[in-house]
Amino acid sequence: MPLLNTTDVMVLGAGAAGMICAVEAGRRGRSVTVIDHARAPGEKIRISGGGRCNFTNLYCGPANFLSGNRHFAISALRSFTQHDFIDRVKAHGIAFHEKTLGQLFCDGSAREIVAMLTGEMAEAGVRLELATQITGVNRSEAGFEIRTESGDWLADRLVVATGGKSVPKMGATGIGYDIARQFGHPVTETRAGLVPFTWASNMHESWGALSGVSLEVHAACNGAGFDEAMLFTHRGLSGPAMLQVSSYWREGDTVTIDLAPGIDVGAYLKAERGARPKASVWTVLTDLLPKRLALQLDTRTGPVPPRIADMSNADLDEVVAAIRAFEVVPGGTEGYRTAEVTLGGVDTDAIHQKTMESRLVPGLHFVGEVLDVTGHLGGHNFQWAWSSGVAAGRAA
Ligand code: FDA
Repeated sequence: MPLLNTTDVMVLGAGAAGMICAVEAGRRGRSVTVIDHARAPGEKIRISGGGRCNFTNLYCGPANFLSGNRHFAISALRSFTQHDFIDRVKAHGIAFHEKTLGQLFCDGSAREIVAMLTGEMAEAGVRLELATQITGVNRSEAGFEIRTESGDWLADRLVVATGGKSVPKMGATGIGYDIARQFGHPVTETRAGLVPFTWASNMHESWGALSGVSLEVHAACNGAGFDEAMLFTHRGLSGPAMLQVSSYWREGDTVTIDLAPGIDVGAYLKAERGARPKASVWTVLTDLLPKRLALQLDTRTGPVPPRIADMSNADLDEVVAAIRAFEVVPGGTEGYRTAEVTLGGVDTDAIHQKTMESRLVPGLHFVGEVLDVTGHLGGHNFQWAWSSGVAAGRAA
């Protein structure tokens, strides 16, 4: 098929990173085309944050990211910060609030962020081609050739913004990784991140019965720890604390959970031993823990003296240890079906950190989640999309 269309910059993917990149390049006077196979742009923005989009985090910084190269994100995060994005949101009159831990959400709807970006694209003269299947990309002396079911394109620059593999139902595919490999780019192992855990078979029946119980915990795994809420579900453990540690978890690893962080459980139990000697230790613990959980812990640690008064300090210390370090070896995770992000991706060693341009193929850029840069929960992943997208848009 002859090459029908030309464009200075071709952006593959009309998600967060692709759209902001297109705006930036378009504002520089480049002719920009964005292609997506979805029927609407920014679908993940629309559903994010329960429909309110946690679009950035006041405290976002390099420490909030996992990557094979922990220095890679620094430059882009500094060049286009959370405050730059917040200014933009304010300029569009979008009302927002801080929910917790610096997490900024729209007061109204995530659709306002999508509308902001599509409006800016229109103003910058960006052409948006939706419902378009990409059938292949190639590089010739003329530039990048992009083949689609509805026609072929020739571009000076190609920006891959096709995201990760998370939530295939929302249009996620691994095409970005395939394109990277095709051009000789290493891709680090990819796996589901920010994802609920599933029970191992030995815990499923008893602990699954706690479905609906939630509490504030400190959860730790492989050197990372988070103070947030945890939720028991029928399938396993969820809630922000579990999603956060899931990004650090590998099959077979133990997740250690402090069920009463910041509370001196030992001192409390010892005081109650004097105050209500006839109560069982687990009844006393229902003051500190959700009742169903306290009673379940009782079953788990086996027979205990019936009255707290009959328990020695060593007995109480054992109970405290069980609460301070509740250990779970999850059976697995719910995988890409429900994961918020994909860990791993295009290896950043072969990418220029200021421009997101390939060190191997001039004119080829990768932005957003397709790269091996993954944020913590709380708006960091969108901030990475904005920062990396702008970095590429200023150069492409
Ligand atoms: P993104 O996935 O947004 O965009 C990729 C685009 O490429 C999509 O439009 C897709 O259709 C297109 N595409 C893929 N394959 C294609 C192909 N073969 N052909 C053509 N087009 C193709 N983060 C955060 O910071 N705050 C939050 O509140 C949330 N909430 C949240 C909720 C849920 C349910 C999920 C799944 C994820 C989040 N996230 C989040 C994570 C956040 O959505 C994610 O990190 C960014 O959307 C990544 O932006 P990208 O532009 O890189 O990819």
